[in-house]
Amino acid sequence: MNTRDAASHGTFHLAWSRPSGALTLRDWLAHLARTGRVATIDRPVALEHELAAIARRLDGTQAAFFTQPGGHDVPVVSGFMSRRAWIAEAMGVAEADLLARFRDAAGQPLASQEIPRAEAACQQVVHTSGIDLHALLPIPTHSEHDNGPYLTAGLVIARNPRTGVQNVSINRIQVHGPDRMAILLLPRHLHAFQKTAEEAGEALDVAIAIGVDPLTMLASQAISPIDSDELEIAGALHGAPLPVVRCVSHGVNVPAFAEIVIEGRILPNVREPEGPFGEFPKYYSAREAREVIEVTAVTHREKPIFHTIVPAEMEHLLLGAIPREASLLAHLQRSHPGVKDVHLSVGGVCRYHLWVQFDKKREGEAKNVILCAFGAHYDIKQVVVVDTDVDVHDPAEIEWAVATRFQADRDLVVIEGAQGSPLDPSTTVGQPEDAPPHLQGVSAKMGLDATRPVVYASHVFTRVRIPGQDTVDLDALVAADNTAFDAYLDGAHG
Ligand SMILES: Cc1cc2nc3c(=O)[nH]c(=O)nc-3n(C[C@H](O)[C@H](O)[C@H](O)COP(=O)(O)O)c2cc1C
Repeated sequence: MNTRDAASHGTFHLAWSRPSGALTLRDWLAHLARTGRVATIDRPVALEHELAAIARRLDGTQAAFFTQPGGHDVPVVSGFMSRRAWIAEAMGVAEADLLARFRDAAGQPLASQEIPRAEAACQQVVHTSGIDLHALLPIPTHSEHDNGPYLTAGLVIARNPRTGVQNVSINRIQVHGPDRMAILLLPRHLHAFQKTAEEAGEALDVAIAIGVDPLTMLASQAISPIDSDELEIAGALHGAPLPVVRCVSHGVNVPAFAEIVIEGRILPNVREPEGPFGEFPKYYSAREAREVIEVTAVTHREKPIFHTIVPAEMEHLLLGAIPREASLLAHLQRSHPGVKDVHLSVGGVCRYHLWVQFDKKREGEAKNVILCAFGAHYDIKQVVVVDTDVDVHDPAEIEWAVATRFQADRDLVVIEGAQGSPLDPSTTVGQPEDAPPHLQGVSAKMGLDATRPVVYASHVFTRVRIPGQDTVDLDALVAADNTAFDAYLDGAHG
């Protein structure tokens, strides 16, 4: 992967862009508000449950903007990227081109541009002593059995201790002391950095950037190689280098336009209890010992906005879905050029169930595609492969293909005992409650080949189509009112 310069990037028209400067959360919220997609809750709202309950009710229809959360004067926003169409709009492409655009940006990252501290909005206000996160920020408690307030929408940024290259991820972070937090590190890049630092007996510097635009949020979820800085993918999505600034208490660079930055260090050989926490599969994660962040500084804009993601809501699901779909599509197409499109279904929590549209040329190929998908990401638990006449984004079409083109004795692939998602509760059955991490998440995989035979007799697999159904001009044909209908019935009854 090459880091390119700005000039080599295609320009995309972003409806929410300004004449100059980086695109910020505020630009996007202003755009949503102009188009009726922000609901302002201008009354006191409790941080415990009430805020999340209201945001949930608005999920997928409007972003929720709370002006008085828990007595704080820092507003909270949630749900500003809760539809595929909004995300495509943020990227400046048609919905059908979402994955291709994301893949192009991930393949052509754009180096960030470090700016002086005096110019960085996220450092307009700096706190380095006497930090009390609960006093500074409106941090919600979301679900019924959550252990307490959590940061759910922070970009966690750290440098690889071996190479110095940065990484970005979103991690749930339980705030259990004024300047102390516990973080869930699943075995990916940040986890690898922490292990390296810990083996050397050192803390790992981290920064948590809260309140960034949808494109920077999405970039954080790219499935990219370990030494790829996702802020550079954000730059590519913006079509301009991302302005970044050095933290005030250590050497990590953060988006300069973020609303709030919490700086800290993951302590070596320290673990504290975290959870339970209501997660994206719509179940709770257990209370377990987790890595601990000690906060070293908090910086923010004047009049900052705090972003919270209500777990398992569309914002959470889509953030995971789109970058994954882009990576999965690229991965499958490398070996199987007949793969046309993919979709992670909402019912499969946008992680576990993958639908693949495939132009099959030879018998058996769909099963190879299924096996390839299982290897592409451990979260994938069920794969359905359909033909190109099936809309892979429509659950009813997928079910129709399974109902009419699939036979379980012939077209089913089952793999036992593979690694799956440790957050899928069905993987815990038969396990002791305190199973160590290396035994968690063991899962079966199921693949359904719902493609029709390449060659079939007569019309047996021909989809019924009515000639003209797509081109009928209803505006021209349907009368403006039912006068003729009423007249006929009157005549019939008279
Ligand atoms: C809202 C949200 C919360 C997430 N929480 C966690 C988490 O607590 N722990 C974790 O390891 N990954 C979590 N993820 C997934 C990671 O952020 C994601 O897999 C990321 O791409 C990992 O980056 P990396 O591969 O560069 O390490 C979350 C994702 C989202 C969208």
